[in-house]
Amino acid sequence: MLKSTDSAIGAALAQAREEAWSTPLARLDVSKADRFARNLHWPFFDRLRAEAPVHYCAESEFGAYWSVSSYETIVAVDTNHRQFSSAEGIFIGDRDESFRSESFISSDAPIHAKWRKPVMPGVGPKRLQDLEAVIRGRVCDILDGLPVGEEFDWVEHVSIELTTQMLATLFDFPFEDRRKLTFWSDVVTSTPQVGNNSLDPEERKKILMECVGCFTGLWRDRQAREPGFDFISLMAHDPATADMAENPMTLLGNLMLLIVGGNDTTRNSISGGVMALNDFPEQYDRLSADPAVIPNMVSEIIRWQTPLAYMRRTALEDVEVGGRTIRQGDKVVMWYVSGNRDDAFFDDPYEFDIARAKARSHLSFGFGVHRCMGNRVAEMQLRILWEEIQKRFKRVEVTGEAERVMSNFVLGFSKLPVTLRV
Ligand code: HEM
Repeated sequence: MLKSTDSAIGAALAQAREEAWSTPLARLDVSKADRFARNLHWPFFDRLRAEAPVHYCAESEFGAYWSVSSYETIVAVDTNHRQFSSAEGIFIGDRDESFRSESFISSDAPIHAKWRKPVMPGVGPKRLQDLEAVIRGRVCDILDGLPVGEEFDWVEHVSIELTTQMLATLFDFPFEDRRKLTFWSDVVTSTPQVGNNSLDPEERKKILMECVGCFTGLWRDRQAREPGFDFISLMAHDPATADMAENPMTLLGNLMLLIVGGNDTTRNSISGGVMALNDFPEQYDRLSADPAVIPNMVSEIIRWQTPLAYMRRTALEDVEVGGRTIRQGDKVVMWYVSGNRDDAFFDDPYEFDIARAKARSHLSFGFGVHRCMGNRVAEMQLRILWEEIQKRFKRVEVTGEAERVMSNFVLGFSKLPVTLRV
């Protein structure tokens, strides 16, 4: 069952369970960001999978939307890009038309492939092979600089730092300015579209326009140089994307996709793994006894954490899914977080099992034409991290209260106090 070091969770979860199973089904709204921030969303999805895996919510702060919540229905929608479009956006909240950027994750054919293809070599097998030694060196430097036997925030000192360094490498971004990438990514995801109202919209626009200015400068610089394998150079030199800098909102959208795509996700898998191993200490013992399990454990961590709770699609025509008719123009939310706990697909889905046979079949990277482009680099980052942790520390022990992110989209931690044991 659910476990957590959060001491208040037992009673709160019981209350959430009561609410989830007593609310009339038609009024069940699983999109509330504060529920995710308190880690209390699980029973609401248990109910949907059991009683209405294709469910219509007529009223929410994001308007009406359909939820698909079982493994089977999520795969059905995600692999059907002919009838389910990404062009209206991937967040449950509608786009801010006064500040609309374009990117390949929020596009359909032919634009999607036209913009995705040029950047693929930036995370392709050859590039990853070249990057492995660099990433390992950075992981070692970060781990060797951590205090032993003294509490510190794992999110700040490891998850964010490591992810930011990886992103700076993939962009060949000035290394000393790398925290700007994290800052811009946090600004992009602080949006009412995912239930986070923490930033003033005008301030948000101002910051993002500064970001475009910075990237336009880097773009011009890369265009003047020999082509390289960083994302900016790949786009600046490919005939399909070479004119992108002429349209600042297209440049912003595509570059931010590459930053945000890799940022919160990898960061929260790094934190989520530590949390999961602490919630399941017998699995931590198993890891210590057999480090060869790490590649499979990485997949299980990504299933367990589900760093992005969902992707949204919009129906291009009337479509039947799981016996319900979704109407043209309706919003459909594919709740990966729910599909990853579907017991019709995964045995004992609420168990964190580092040797799980079907761990790689998790939904966290999506399916179909939009399947995560960075999945291999994320897995490599996590594998190297856990290999190096195992060489140095007996335990990364959670010793304080974790804080979770306020969002229905990004599932993760803003704080995770830990103490290293050797
Ligand atoms: C797309 C998850 C790491 C770049 C996606 C999608 C998901 C996802 C759910 C959408 C799939 C769909 O709609 O079917 C994750 C998770 C990660 C991760 C869980 C880490 C554990 C990364 C990294 C990068 C990246 C490291 C890049 C450096 C992208 C891009 C897309 C994408 C560019 C858009 C693909 C498209 O629309 O064709 N990711 N991601 N992701 N991801 Fe990731």
